[in-house]
Amino acid sequence: MKKPFIVCNWKLNGDKNVINNFVKNIKLIDNIKNMQLTIAPPVIYLDFFKNLITEEKFFLAAQDVDIHENGAFTGEVSAAMLKDIGVKYIIIGHSERKIFHNENNEIILKKISMAIKFSLIPIVCIGETLQQHKEKKTKEVCLEQINYLVNNNIMKNCNKIIIAYEPIWAIGTGKSAEPKEIQILIKFMREHINKFFKISKKILMLYGGSVNKKNAKVFLNQSDIDGLLVGKASLNTDFFYSI
Ligand code: PGA
Repeated sequence: MKKPFIVCNWKLNGDKNVINNFVKNIKLIDNIKNMQLTIAPPVIYLDFFKNLITEEKFFLAAQDVDIHENGAFTGEVSAAMLKDIGVKYIIIGHSERKIFHNENNEIILKKISMAIKFSLIPIVCIGETLQQHKEKKTKEVCLEQINYLVNNNIMKNCNKIIIAYEPIWAIGTGKSAEPKEIQILIKFMREHINKFFKISKKILMLYGGSVNKKNAKVFLNQSDIDGLLVGKASLNTDFFYSI
């Protein structure tokens, strides 16, 4: 049986109290070791979280990283700093960063390169808008995004990168995508990457977008979906019992 890779993207939610309760409850779940659990709390709580983890029950991810290594960039957090406090993964190119912070392909590429430089594993988000979904351009848009990574030599680090397919119209809307369709799409993307590098079986591919305690299992039962990127539902430990 596969060990699902679950990433909890808390976005701009949570505080010390929520974290204390979360860690306490997670420690009570016996078979939590059957999944690889990664938590992405707001950056200010990463260190606090780290200090509460006595066993390697879960890993930490940042929700973003700066494109610079250091310097006069007020408000930013570097890959080196994240590495320093024990972070292992970085979510990069989330649609909310594209929409609210104008992140484009060029910035995303710099962030991925920065993560790889500091031996952090980027979880790169790709996916189509509602309009593109309605126009049946999902495959085309995803291919374009994957090809951008391929053409910029990012995919040669296949074993050091995770792809999260997150249709933008499914994020935070309660309308998740159809698991069987996602399976076909992810398999297709995997095979596409394989054409270039022949090692894409190693690449972890996740689904994200309105995953909840009811649909999580159905997504994880699809052979090419290695795990989930979960927003809202991941703040509630009930979700982990369901998996
Ligand atoms: P959601 O968020 O599960 O709340 O839809 C997913 C994400 O944004 O990664």
